[in-house]
Amino acid sequence: MDARPDRTPAEDALLKTALKRLPGGVLGGYYAPADLQFVVKEARGARLRDVSGREYVDYLLGSGPMVLGHAHPAVVAAVERQIGRGTTFFQLNEPAIELAEEICRAMPCAEQLRYTSTGSEATFFALRVARAFRKRDKILKFEGGFHGTHDYSLMSFAPKAPKAFPAPTPDSAGIPHAIQEHVLVAPFNDLAEAEAIIAAHHDSLAAVIVEPFQRLIVPARGFLKGLREVTARYGIPLVFDEVVTGFRFAYGGAQEYYGVVPDLAAVGKIIGGGFPLAAVVGREEIMRLLSPAQEKTGAYVHQAGTLNGNPVACAAGLATLGELRKPGTYERLFQAGNRIKTALQEAARAAGLEAQVAGEAPVFEIYFTDRPITDYRATLTADMALHAAFTRALLERGILKAIQKFYVSLAHTEEDIRQTVQAFTAAFHAVTEQRRHRP
Ligand SMILES: Cc1ncc(COP(=O)(O)O)c(C=O)c1O
Repeated sequence: MDARPDRTPAEDALLKTALKRLPGGVLGGYYAPADLQFVVKEARGARLRDVSGREYVDYLLGSGPMVLGHAHPAVVAAVERQIGRGTTFFQLNEPAIELAEEICRAMPCAEQLRYTSTGSEATFFALRVARAFRKRDKILKFEGGFHGTHDYSLMSFAPKAPKAFPAPTPDSAGIPHAIQEHVLVAPFNDLAEAEAIIAAHHDSLAAVIVEPFQRLIVPARGFLKGLREVTARYGIPLVFDEVVTGFRFAYGGAQEYYGVVPDLAAVGKIIGGGFPLAAVVGREEIMRLLSPAQEKTGAYVHQAGTLNGNPVACAAGLATLGELRKPGTYERLFQAGNRIKTALQEAARAAGLEAQVAGEAPVFEIYFTDRPITDYRATLTADMALHAAFTRALLERGILKAIQKFYVSLAHTEEDIRQTVQAFTAAFHAVTEQRRHRP
């Protein structure tokens, strides 16, 4: 297919170099269809511009960190202030301590914190510290749950042919076969089945890890509470992966929003204000195993990173949390998200398409299926070709979303929302027309 006619020679040249030097011409994660691929030049608020000068309303938001929108003045000022004072120290620094204090004040489970650079590291080390605490090896995760790209996480995240529970299916080549023996998989939102697996394996389980809001799936009433109860009964640390939900669903994250407090949590994305920063947080009794005071004991958990507690990232995070703490912020975020979410559902209905808009106001997605989206297997009933065509039709109309997600920011304006809602109608019209003419 021909590339976009409005692409400039400069952007064409960059894309050719990307294709030559980066596997698949991408950075990993997001990629647009090849003919619509673009190179970002700059972004402000909820608008992003490519090298050819084309503008997009941004619902990708850097895969979630940019909840305030791009280049927020408070974040830019904080970063500029810090950059002039030095950019990394591998040592205690003011922003790192102040941000740790603020996160621990905000999140119900957080008594102590250890920084990492990515969310993948945060879930990886949360599991390691849980193993050291419990002196067991196995972890239980949920089918369809994503905890980053490490070997324990990439099990039954997106199995094409799911196995019987609790057997895991690796999602990537290159994962040692032996890891499969250490991972059990349960169905999200099926408390009875999860409880039965935990009861059968409790003596070998080190941790249960769950996205409290799994991808786009809202937890069923009582599901998280039930997980809390069964893990507490057996003394198994419960880990919430709050990389997406932390500071997004509420200032205290999903644990505040859904009212269930885990033992450990992984946070990322928003806390770094657009810089590489994530953290493991949790109960002091478990977190203390990361302390150098444990070095002489067999229980010491080794975790270090060159950029742990990077002062620029922490300054950006502090400035971001400062904005989020302002009164009415979450009400505004939810109002904007709910308007877009409702408009999406209505536009699908008006186009005569059977669809479910799943998620919460700040993060949602449309599935073309008649089945309510309550677990991973329900997502497999959706028409993915239609979904890809819709995502593409939106991009053609200047609406950028993740391949499987809309993130909403505080920077989306009335005009952005108006343009988005118009694009929904036009995109649905385009995909239903294509469908009618499909041989
Ligand atoms: C729930 C969840 N956990 C962990 C991660 C991994 O974070 P990172 O991409 O920073 O490694 C992601 C990334 O999107 C995520 O959505």
